Amino acid sequence: MKISGEIQTQAKAVSTAGSETFVLARSGAKAPSCVAISNSAFLDGERNLPPEEVIFGSSQAMWEIRRNVERAASTDIPVLLQGATGTGKEVLARFLHRCSCGASKPFVKVNCPAIPVSLFESEVFGYEKGAFTGACEAKPGRVELARGGTLFLDEIAELDVNVQAKLLQLLQDGQYCRLGSQSEKHIQARIVCATNKPLKHAVKCGTFREDLFYRISVFPLELPSLQQRNGDIPMLVAYFLEKYGGKYGRDVPPVSNSLLDRLEKYQWPGNIRQLENIVHNYAVFESEQFITNKLEDRDPEWLSVGLTSHGSAGLKKITQQTVKELERRIILQTLEAHGWHRGLAARALRISYGALLYKMREIGLPLKGCRKPFSVEPAGLLNSAGAEIGDTASRSVGATA
Ligand SMILES: Nc1ncnc2c1ncn2[C@@H]1O[C@H](COP(=O)(O)OP(=O)(O)OP(=O)(O)O)[C@@H](O)[C@H]1O
Ligand SMILES: [Mg+2]
Repeated sequence: MKISGEIQTQAKAVSTAGSETFVLARSGAKAPSCVAISNSAFLDGERNLPPEEVIFGSSQAMWEIRRNVERAASTDIPVLLQGATGTGKEVLARFLHRCSCGASKPFVKVNCPAIPVSLFESEVFGYEKGAFTGACEAKPGRVELARGGTLFLDEIAELDVNVQAKLLQLLQDGQYCRLGSQSEKHIQARIVCATNKPLKHAVKCGTFREDLFYRISVFPLELPSLQQRNGDIPMLVAYFLEKYGGKYGRDVPPVSNSLLDRLEKYQWPGNIRQLENIVHNYAVFESEQFITNKLEDRDPEWLSVGLTSHGSAGLKKITQQTVKELERRIILQTLEAHGWHRGLAARALRISYGALLYKMREIGLPLKGCRKPFSVEPAGLLNSAGAEIGDTASRSVGATA
């Protein structure tokens, strides 16, 4: 498979069976203003990989990675994928394999910490008959199984130092021996390593061999965090909505603009995996409030809103704004908890009915009728640019044309 060298800069529309998913991404220098992903593109079932445009999105950082992956794909040099948890290292390793000459050959994963030290050699290099008690017949190791394809050494920083020595020769001159054999074999696979721990630091601490580090990091790639590529969030959300909507056989309603804004501002310590889990939950429960609660558990956004939106406004004003926002949230949650029965909510809050109505009016909540919990937009919440969040401009994700 050939990857195009340039990131998509124009609106792209792929129509399959009259069904398209449109995603409006934040505009940027190199970013597409609108990307449409076909349903069939999502179903890259063969290797269970997201489509190329989803893997790379439109951020500058991923654009660089895409160029480097293209370069690496045409060679057989070892590649080291570094990046925080959930940034897509395994996805990228599989993608690199798919782009390589050996794409039709196996992609063999070795989850380094999962193999006990005592078994590592026999698992990875294989063994001959009689090599140890119970070795009734010869067995090829994973290095051999990967012949012509890719050997993916995942979480390599977790490797025991003794095992690292055994890998060194493989990386150094491509030679290895099956356990119990004298004859050397030559590896015929590309080695891709991945780690979410900074290897240089591990080298300094003495938990990772320096010589091995230099062998595996011939071609290092550092994946950006989701926060660094937050402009790709709408597209990723669309992809996951499609994925899980398809899985459960239902049309999941698109995510509102205000929630998308919020998702783009969130820090995402678990990166794309965390976003995927949250959208998965949304596809099941179809409740934005559910997502909001999950985000608030980890990140009191209302607090940072108070800080960022006022810049040099001073402590007094920031505190007033933040307390007001907290009050709004408590009232909203209480109303929701009581099915928007204002009498019950007032009693639960231990304020008079009149005081509750006054506060509801003050914070812009409807006094008449009942609103679904997740249709309530934050009122008076300011984003970092000082603009009001919750404008209903059409930026919905996952809408099916
Ligand atoms: N670019 C992407 N597009 C769509 N889904 C992605 C992308 N990157 C990662 N994912 C999804 O996020 C999850 C985590 O990805 P992956 O396992 O590749 O992360 P990782 O960097 O290897 O994480 P860890 O360090 O914890 O092993 C997977 O479910 C994967 O499908
Ligand atoms: Mg991984």
